[in-house]
Amino acid sequence: MATILGIESSCDETAAAVVRDHTTVLSSVVASQIETHAPYGGVVPELAARDHVNRIDQVIDDALAAADVELSELDAVAATVGPGLAGALLIGMAAAKAISLCADVPFVGVNHLDAHAHAAAIDTGFEPPGVALIVSGGHTLLAEVGADWTFDLLGETVDDAAGEAFDKVARTLGLGYPGGPVVDRLSLGGDPETFRLPRAMLRDGFDFSFSGLKTAVYQICKRAERDGVLIDEADLAASFQAAVVDVLAIKTLRAADEVGARSVVVGGGVAANSELRARLGVDCDEAGLELHIPSITLCADNAAMVASAADRRVAAGDFDPLDMCVEPSLRIGALPAPPGV
Ligand code: KG4
Ligand code: ZN
Repeated sequence: MATILGIESSCDETAAAVVRDHTTVLSSVVASQIETHAPYGGVVPELAARDHVNRIDQVIDDALAAADVELSELDAVAATVGPGLAGALLIGMAAAKAISLCADVPFVGVNHLDAHAHAAAIDTGFEPPGVALIVSGGHTLLAEVGADWTFDLLGETVDDAAGEAFDKVARTLGLGYPGGPVVDRLSLGGDPETFRLPRAMLRDGFDFSFSGLKTAVYQICKRAERDGVLIDEADLAASFQAAVVDVLAIKTLRAADEVGARSVVVGGGVAANSELRARLGVDCDEAGLELHIPSITLCADNAAMVASAADRRVAAGDFDPLDMCVEPSLRIGALPAPPGV
């Protein structure tokens, strides 16, 4: 039974958590940087790194205290090593390595995308194999999850991530940052049939494209402004959200069918979207698939998923050297190559 301290700092959340035995969360602390980045309408990498520096020690102390666990009781310390913002990743990884050295605790580097899939294991009981839809502010991808938690990429976005499209549409509509939750809420009062918006690459393979959809929303707003026409923002938000959800759901179900999966696991910030959760619920039910979507707090970036993702390697005594580097563009299922390779 392994007790693992997880650390997450790949983007705009500084997080630490203590997880025992893959799925028992003893503590999970997340310090959000939304207030830092909101004035800019998106994450500013340098500000993210500075915020991580200021908060990481306290967040780790709080996670250990809340779990009532001493450093000496840890079997490993795990940190996200990619993908993400280089400067942001470095802070969490450096903290983990410092703990590893000072407290003589083995270090494990964790892939952030793998970790989003592990989040479902924590509170839905997901066990591979299956198909994973990872959908966040930085990524949108489908992968086959092997019985031993390996990941084979099936397709990914060729331009914007789905969450990025939510954030940019929210900015166009003047709704603030982050856009996903606001668009989600606004859509509840809108009619998704009002605007016919593109569903790019719907029938082509498993890649995604959301940039044309974002531009279509922008053009509708600009045209309305030019013509002095008032548009119902709730209708536009609902139409946009319906287009994103349509593409995500249709491709996920097709991927599950193609690889013969019986389970679908979903992770990443956009997995918090109410329409996506409802639609996948209906579609998976009809197709006889088990659907695993974590609770809202575990969909967003957190460190419990990082500690959980490290569990199998810790159990096998498979640790990483302290000269491991971060890799901002790490692919799902991969870890950074050793320095110099
Ligand atoms: O996984 P995450 O916390 O960070 C990344 O790794 O990117 O995802 C953040 C993204 C943001 O783009 C945010 O707007 C989106 O998730 N998001 C949502 C919702 N809640 C957060 N998108 C749609 N609907 C939501 N309810
Ligand atoms: Zn994420």
